[in-house]
Amino acid sequence: MLRFDNITKSFGGVTAVEQCSFEIPSAGITGLIGPNGAGKTTAFNVIAGHLQPDSGRIIFDGHNVTQLPAWRRQAMGLSRTFQLPHEFGRLSVLDNLVVAAGNRDGEKLINAIFFPDRGRSREHEARQQALKTLEFLEIDSLAGELAGNLSGGQKKLLELGRALMQRPRLILLDEIGAGVNRTLLGKIAEKILALNASEGYTFCLIEHDLDTVSRLCSNVHVMAQGRLLTSGSVEDVRNDERVIDVYFGGGKYQETA
Ligand SMILES: Nc1ncnc2c1ncn2[C@@H]1O[C@H](COP(=O)(O)OP(=O)(O)OP(=O)(O)O)[C@@H](O)[C@H]1O
Ligand SMILES: [Mg+2]
Repeated sequence: MLRFDNITKSFGGVTAVEQCSFEIPSAGITGLIGPNGAGKTTAFNVIAGHLQPDSGRIIFDGHNVTQLPAWRRQAMGLSRTFQLPHEFGRLSVLDNLVVAAGNRDGEKLINAIFFPDRGRSREHEARQQALKTLEFLEIDSLAGELAGNLSGGQKKLLELGRALMQRPRLILLDEIGAGVNRTLLGKIAEKILALNASEGYTFCLIEHDLDTVSRLCSNVHVMAQGRLLTSGSVEDVRNDERVIDVYFGGGKYQETA
C-alpha cells in the first residue's frame, strides 16, 4: 500500500533518516520500532507530508505523493496520530471528532455558499459518524466532556477516533500506547485488531512495548540511526544480535522488559 523509498531527511547537521526504505503492505498491521532518536517519527512525518524529504520518494497506492501536501494525502486515505495528542482542549470530545471529519468536497467554500443544506446534512452525517466512533471506542459517555479534561489514555483513544473520522485506509499510529495503563493499552490493541480484521484498515504503528507489538504486528521494521536495520517477525527481530546491540545500554525497551 505504501512504499518508503530511499528517503533521507536531515535537520541541519542531524541526519534523522538516511537512505531508508521499507514497505507497508495492504491490510496488515506493520510495526516500526527502534531506539529513541532512530528516526521513526520523522519517517511518519515524511509519509504523512508534514515534512518534505531531502531525497527519496513516497509511493502511496501506486502514486508518487512525495510532492503532495498533507491534506491531499489525507484525502487519498492516509491518516496519522501524533506522539503527543493534538486534541482541541476547549472543544467537547464529540466536537473534536466532528471537526476531524474527512473533507471530501466539503473543502470547497463555494459549496457552503451555494448549497448550505448540503453543508448541514454533511455536519449531521459527521455527528452520526462521531457518535458511532465514540461508541466503538467505548468513550461515548465522555461525548460532552471538554477534551482538555481527559486523562492521558483517554486522549490517546480520542486521537485514534479523530484519525478514524477521516475514513482512512492507512492509519499511522505514533506511540498510541505510550503512557497508557496496561488495561487501556489492552483495549486499544483490541480496537486496532478489530478495525484491521473487520473493516480492513491497514495500520503502521510505532510502539516501544514489544509485547503489544508482538500481539498486533505480523511484520516489523527496525530502524536505528535513521537507517533500516532489519525487518521480520517480532520473534525474529527480538533474537537478532544486531537489534539487541542497538538497544544495549538503555532505552525504553529495558523498562518494559
Ligand atoms: N524538527 C527537528 N529538528 C531538529 N532535529 C530533529 C527534529 N525532529 C527530529 N530531530 C532529530 O532527528 C532524530 C530522529 O528523531 P525522531 O523523533 O524521528 O526519532 P524517534 O525514533 O521518533 O524517537 P522516539 O522513540 O524518542 O520518539 C533525533 O536525533 C532528533 O533529535
Ligand atoms: Mg518518535
